[in-house]
Amino acid sequence: MQQAGALLTTRKEEDTAYIGEMLGRLLTKPLIVALQGELGAGKTVFVRGAARGLAVEDQVSSPTFVLMKMYAGRLPVYHLDFYRLTGGAEEADELCFEEYLPGDGIAFIEWPERLPGLLPPDYLLVTIELFHDQYGESRRLKFMPYGGAAAKVVETLFEEISWRTDGSLNREQPGS
Ligand SMILES: Nc1ncnc2c1ncn2[C@@H]1O[C@H](COP(=O)(O)OP(=O)(O)OP(=O)(O)O)[C@@H](O)[C@H]1O
Ligand SMILES: [Mg+2]
Repeated sequence: MQQAGALLTTRKEEDTAYIGEMLGRLLTKPLIVALQGELGAGKTVFVRGAARGLAVEDQVSSPTFVLMKMYAGRLPVYHLDFYRLTGGAEEADELCFEEYLPGDGIAFIEWPERLPGLLPPDYLLVTIELFHDQYGESRRLKFMPYGGAAAKVVETLFEEISWRTDGSLNREQPGS
């Protein structure tokens, strides 16, 4: 079941990575984090931060061409990117992704919409939207938990973030 979502805006790459890192730090159990947003929205930037928060020491690079990369962290980290998945569900079946969704680790999935029906009922959806305002280019990050475990994660995340009073890292109210 989908729970209430939470919104924030970032104005810099480092801040999106910071939010990812804060998420990574608080994860202690397997979870799927699906990331939606146009090309260049900041999904990989977010995952890079999250991997840092999960104590991954290797450099995280986009798995666009290989579809999945694995990293050793506090928990195993699976970074999937379905942008180039052309064979649909059949190709995905052959690649046996299911054992990583989330398996014993944290599965970050970019372009999950390329594989409808892939996601189980419990996951965290992060949507990143690029927009322009008086500060220039900004990103709106929306956290939509599906299931109780993901909802708890979002609640804790929003308590732990160090918000700034200068407007560069803002919590937003839905509909504002
Ligand atoms: N506030 C911000 N948050 C995240 N990235 C930002 C921000 N401002 C600028 N950027 C830039 O936007 C780009 C985001 O690239 P990234 O590879 O993370 O996108 P992506 O969503 O993974 O795209 P793709 O669908 O191609 O994989 C980077 O070049 C980054 O420097
Ligand atoms: Mg990417």
